[in-house]
Amino acid sequence: MKKWIQKAIVQKIVSYLPFGRQINYLFQKYVTKGVYLTDTYFYDRLNHATQHLAAYHRFTGNPMPNSCLELGTGWYPIVPIAFFLSGVQSIYSVDIAFLTSKKRIATTLAMFAQAHRQQRLPNYLPNLQPQRLQLLLNLIDQLPTLTLPDILNQLHLHYLIEDARHLSLPDNSVDLVNSNNTFEHIYPQLLEPILLEFKRVVKKNTGIMSHFIDMSDHFAHFDSSITIYNFLQFSDQQWQWIDNTIQPQNRLRLADYQQLYNHINLPITHQNLWHGDVAQLTMVPLHPHFANQNPDMVAVSHCHFISVM
Ligand SMILES: C[S@@+](CC[C@H](N)C(=O)[O-])C[C@H]1O[C@@H](n2cnc3c(N)ncnc32)[C@H](O)[C@@H]1O
Repeated sequence: MKKWIQKAIVQKIVSYLPFGRQINYLFQKYVTKGVYLTDTYFYDRLNHATQHLAAYHRFTGNPMPNSCLELGTGWYPIVPIAFFLSGVQSIYSVDIAFLTSKKRIATTLAMFAQAHRQQRLPNYLPNLQPQRLQLLLNLIDQLPTLTLPDILNQLHLHYLIEDARHLSLPDNSVDLVNSNNTFEHIYPQLLEPILLEFKRVVKKNTGIMSHFIDMSDHFAHFDSSITIYNFLQFSDQQWQWIDNTIQPQNRLRLADYQQLYNHINLPITHQNLWHGDVAQLTMVPLHPHFANQNPDMVAVSHCHFISVM
């Protein structure tokens, strides 16, 4: 049996168990080895932070946002800490579950310290604030004596553990709303109200939204015997059986996201597309739902949408 099918079965079973998220973390830690903070993951998300801040500067003319909100930060708050190092004052992260921990923040800080020693940070963070970097390095030394709230406080980081459809933030209060490989895990009936809520909190005229979306089959990240288009062979009904609530994948394509933005009157002011590989797409026995669409559009594997409000 292919590795991705084994993983799908385990995640499906775990998703029905109490403490499913914690069990999944242990499964990924000891079996699939998917929870370690690798260099590739760290620099990929650091590059996202660079792109978010560059977009903010390019489209607003302002040097740095004062407040940022990230949806679904996950285990390692790389983007929020990059914002801290760049001088952002209020950094919010919203998730329905609190996924980080003192240990995972320590791991993230250690990666930043290593990037600093290797003199790589200025390549990603052109506005790196020396006093904030010093604060981060001091924080690493003080970690054993600090509580998690102390650490978050020093990093200007506020975790909002709530449903992003109903944020506790006021209207017109956030300069930069961002997400990183998160939309693809949210079903459209939830994504639409989340985007409407983002529209409410982002500052009108001076705020932007900047979202990275990974439309590839995430099982292919773990099983190289399948391509990133593998999941497009299944009907919605079949996919419901395969998909799980721990790491759901909505399989939306570029055109679906564009339609969703259009439907709620959210502009896509600028988009960067990763075009994927049409030849690879055509090797998959696509379900008619996908086969009947423009293959160039279906093949797009990643995108970055910027909305100027
Ligand atoms: C796969 S993770 C994101 C991964 C992470 N951003 C990264 O860079 O790897 C998707 C996250 O979105 C969160 N999420 C899903 N629906 C949500 C909602 N309605 N409100 C807030 N967070 C939500 C999930 O709890 C999950 O932590």
